[in-house]
Amino acid sequence: MKSTPPPVLPIDAGSPHGDRASSRSRRCVLVFIALVLLLLVRFPDIASFKRFIPSAESEHDFGSGCAQPDPLFPSNHPELDKAFEHISSESFRNATIRRLSGAVQVRTESFDDLGAIGEDPRWDVFYDFHQYLEKTFPLIHEKLLVEKVNTHGLLYTWKGSDESLKPTLLMAHQDTVPVPPETVPDWTYPPWSGAYDGKNIWGRGASDCKNQLIAAMETLELLLEAGFQPKRTILLSFGFDEECSGTRGASHLAAFIQERYGKDGIAVIVDEGSSFEYAWGTLFAKPGTAEKGYTDVHITVRAPGGHSSVPTDHTSIGILSELITRIESEQYRTRLVDSNPYYTQLQCGAAYSPEFPSKLKKLLRRRLSSASSPHGTCKAKPDHLALEAAKQGPAIKYLMQTSQAVDVISGGIKVNALPERATAVVNHRINIGETTQVVKDRLAVLAGAVARKHNLTLHAFDGKEEPSSIILSPSAHELEAAPVTPADGSIRGPFSVLAGTTRALYGEEVVVTPGIMTGNTDTRYYWDLTRHIFRFAPGLDPEDGPGLGAIHTVDERVSVLNHVNSVKWFTLFVRNMDEAEL
Ligand SMILES: *[C@@H]1O[C@H](CO)[C@@H](O)[C@H](O)[C@H]1NC(C)=O
Ligand SMILES: *[C@@H]1O[C@H](CO)[C@@H](O)[C@H](O)[C@H]1NC(C)=O
Ligand SMILES: [Zn+2]
Repeated sequence: MKSTPPPVLPIDAGSPHGDRASSRSRRCVLVFIALVLLLLVRFPDIASFKRFIPSAESEHDFGSGCAQPDPLFPSNHPELDKAFEHISSESFRNATIRRLSGAVQVRTESFDDLGAIGEDPRWDVFYDFHQYLEKTFPLIHEKLLVEKVNTHGLLYTWKGSDESLKPTLLMAHQDTVPVPPETVPDWTYPPWSGAYDGKNIWGRGASDCKNQLIAAMETLELLLEAGFQPKRTILLSFGFDEECSGTRGASHLAAFIQERYGKDGIAVIVDEGSSFEYAWGTLFAKPGTAEKGYTDVHITVRAPGGHSSVPTDHTSIGILSELITRIESEQYRTRLVDSNPYYTQLQCGAAYSPEFPSKLKKLLRRRLSSASSPHGTCKAKPDHLALEAAKQGPAIKYLMQTSQAVDVISGGIKVNALPERATAVVNHRINIGETTQVVKDRLAVLAGAVARKHNLTLHAFDGKEEPSSIILSPSAHELEAAPVTPADGSIRGPFSVLAGTTRALYGEEVVVTPGIMTGNTDTRYYWDLTRHIFRFAPGLDPEDGPGLGAIHTVDERVSVLNHVNSVKWFTLFVRNMDEAEL
């Protein structure tokens, strides 16, 4: 990336190569230390003075960056407490198996090439799904306001008694990714069977995310049955095309909700997302508080055609290849900005995990103790903390780095004709703290150099094209990194309610830390409704341990205990939110 000035966002003060200002301050420190030593030699009895020497080496209180709220239980209420206990019963377990299995059996596949609603008959299966919900959750359909948004979007409203309180909003999507017909024989149980084997429910959508949808519905049905009367309005919002971008479902639902409650009109949103994970010997709950951004950049090289017996030295395919080689010759920087949830995760690990690596701890300590000092203007110092953390593997590295992948290429139609056009698509997931513009600027510089070399015109994201040019254009599905949800467990807020609920249900050994989603959920349309968006699958089966049940592939399934626990979690969370003074 030499040809691209990296974004001026100095975040690493741990570089050994300081600028002039820092060498001056180092001299200051040396003089200070010399003075202190002198004092200690002259007056050895002021040993207690030592305590007041600020030292970068003193043990840092990592826990302050990862405060864990106490377990949070709603206040006693006999009927509601009985209802909560009922979730642990065998009869609830039997009933929940039937309900979730039945939901999986409705084939709500969503396809990338779906036509308009009302024209393409493949949408009509959602009518069946609504009927299934009506039959399965009679109280909800009798007592709550049910609205259909853009035909198949579902919005349930349970009005609270205090209109000054912003609503709690639970989300999920009704659709699933399709099952490719050729994979059907590979499934242990048929993908739309909803089979129950004594432990798991199997089928497409069992864990992404009809489990979340059914758990939210079961929670409300249960609370209605127990006579709960919310002060704070509760909303359920279920899109129906999440797996193909949510343009018809979530985008309409979000606009509808915003029309009613206004910008920032919602207290908290919980949608599908990340779950639990072991790291460094500790069990973490990782509600997603951030999402990486996304952009596909299309590259087209147009060069003169002609007969291949008298070729140009470089065809459009060769020129495109040269550009791709330059793109891949350097990767985006690995960098961890303060707002990146992985920075908090590191602090949580350092504070609570016995197996947290000491080298990371040292770098983290250095980073934390320099955080309050002013940053220099020097650009692109290596982020040593991020680079060290990235050694844990690519899955961790790409929590702190914009990814690039050349995924599609085409060009040429005939062996004796020079290709007039060659195209490639590069997929990017944008790091927290960066923007799609960083990607565009870099590609424009690289493509500009190749264009000059081959006497072509560059059209970088200007929507134009002409013969003999290199054209860069963005995809329709471009998305900036999501605003980061506040996640400070030491202050009263939705994160504390969520974390306190999680520790109430699963115990205080669970450390709750904000997490990052590398994919996107329907919440991308809900950013204006609240700053407090959590992408969280709250179910955990302690026997299984953490992990999603084969989503998007064969043998998708969910453990019934995991599902039952998520009903418990939602029940506690809704009640806790109802009592929270937010
Ligand atoms: C739950 O289902 C099992 C298996 O079908 C059955 O043996 C058991 O009696 C049921 N329990 C209740 C309380 O319904
Ligand atoms: C570069 O392209 C322009 C216009 O396409 C042409 O007039 C010019 O002769 C070319 N120069 C070289 C060095 O090929
Ligand atoms: Zn999903």
